[in-house]
Amino acid sequence: MEELLAQVAARMGEDARVTVLTGAGVSAASGVRTFRDPGGLWHGMRPEEVATPEAFACDPRLCWEWYEMRRRQIAACEPNPAHEVIARWARQRPGFRLVTQNVDGLHERAGTPGVVRFHGSIWHLSCAARCAGSPAAWEDRRVPLPELPPACPACGGIARPAVVWFGEGIDPRVILAAREAVECEVFLAVGTSAVVFPAAGMIGEARRAGALVVEVNPETSAGAGEAQVVLRGGAEVVLPRLDALLPA
Ligand code: OAD
Repeated sequence: MEELLAQVAARMGEDARVTVLTGAGVSAASGVRTFRDPGGLWHGMRPEEVATPEAFACDPRLCWEWYEMRRRQIAACEPNPAHEVIARWARQRPGFRLVTQNVDGLHERAGTPGVVRFHGSIWHLSCAARCAGSPAAWEDRRVPLPELPPACPACGGIARPAVVWFGEGIDPRVILAAREAVECEVFLAVGTSAVVFPAAGMIGEARRAGALVVEVNPETSAGAGEAQVVLRGGAEVVLPRLDALLPA
């Protein structure tokens, strides 16, 4: 492991362009549940029951109760050393980019500027009817929310979590940012099972763009085949060890 860490650190050096793609695993040590691990959110449950436009249309209150439960859990969590290392890289390294699939907001709380959020934010709401008077999304961090489902302040209709559900498209600005982010010299896929596209597609795209692709994960992910270096372990342990090998 030490040799592999040294290899990645040497490629990163002081100023190589680095992109990090994170998934739920980066927040596991903070106590946020992942989706597909044993005990994960999708274990024993079909995502279609809550994370689709159809589920929301069928029972918005039930859907909101699930998101309220997650908002409550996440509000009690703190960023861990992996979030902190990423935040430092984002502030100090020119050309650094972070793309996250997470909606928990822990990267932002750790102080990472310019986070590209592939799947939105659990702390943002939007009008379910996308009424003309409402902003695309607005922040509401209250836990619990005073009413479920919450209302759109513009039209009084139902508001929804501003997250991407299965079957929904990704914001074109996010797709553009992700396309730019794969043009890098070192690409780290951290704590993602790499099964949800298009985010997972970034791993192969980075490899084709010439990046050194590195996986950081205690398990083998679906993206491991694209990785030239696999760092087995929790992100909260591996990223601080990698950071310690970089030039000060
Ligand atoms: P998953 O739950 O699918 O995968 C979590 C990954 O984190 C697994 O590969 C674990 O092995 C790994 N892991 C667990 N503990 C870890 C640790 N301490 N350090 C590093 N890795 C660890 O989560 P995602 O890949 O993020 O989408 O899932 C992708 C998308 O599927 C999510 O954004 C969400 C979900 O449905 C939407 O909500 C649209």
